[in-house]
Amino acid sequence: MGNSDQNRLSVTLIDVASGKEAEFVTLDEEFAALLVRKSYGRAETIRDEAEPLRFYSVRRWMDAAAAAACHADPEVQGLTARLYQIARVTHLLNGARPSNPVRLIIEDKRARVEADRRTGFDRRLKDVGRSEGDRRAVGDRRLGPRRLQHRPGEIDLIAAARRARENADAAFSHFKVGAALETADGIVVTGCNIENATYGLTTCAERVAMFKALSDGHRAFTRIAIVADTTSPTPPCGACRQILWEFGGNLEVQLANLKGPTGTHRMKDLLPLPFDARLL
Ligand code: THU
Repeated sequence: MGNSDQNRLSVTLIDVASGKEAEFVTLDEEFAALLVRKSYGRAETIRDEAEPLRFYSVRRWMDAAAAAACHADPEVQGLTARLYQIARVTHLLNGARPSNPVRLIIEDKRARVEADRRTGFDRRLKDVGRSEGDRRAVGDRRLGPRRLQHRPGEIDLIAAARRARENADAAFSHFKVGAALETADGIVVTGCNIENATYGLTTCAERVAMFKALSDGHRAFTRIAIVADTTSPTPPCGACRQILWEFGGNLEVQLANLKGPTGTHRMKDLLPLPFDARLL
């Protein structure tokens, strides 16, 4: 799949702040021209018919190397920084991501994982600890996968979860839930709850999001947002806590209803004394 067309396509959802549309159009044109001038690929921006300030930015890269060079280009980074000042950006499809995401994270200056640390996956399998001279105090000891740092405000995860909730198939409980999981390289993978006639085979929004992400090859995560239409917060069920812990580690968990946030937690607090592969 490495060089297939699908892998060379990136799609981003852009919600422009009101009053900033003209600025966005200029930026967008500059970006499209730059892509052509430097032979990185082509960009096309499509306006959402229903939402005047919502755009879909579709980028087709020449190849994986061009996509990587484009992301590393200071001129592109300058334009991106300006875009983030005037719009909320949600990555829907990231065709620029190389097949080894951990390497990308390590190379990315903005990465939230340290270069010399093991991936979350290794930590789940063994209590690998730290090397001599780099040891934490016992009380400090982190459980589970590496905790990733938070980069606030970059992606509106709650909005993504709210949108995902609209796809919920909750014909039996009528309780619709949406989830949005952020990967360490800034991609958002969403999920909704899916029920069926046996009731028992129901899958919660959180697990749908996590399994989608894992099956797309993602292995490091930072945050998850969960949205339900309830006044009090809807925290993840026990089964979801186990899966989120095992695959996502000490994620930040943002709870929200349709009006806005209702609480922020950490997985280690939602699942104290966890069972995981290190105990096997
Ligand atoms: N549900 C979720 O999707 N996530 C949660 O955090 C709580 C519960 C779903 C499962 C079922 O489809 C419905 O909500 C009622 O339990």
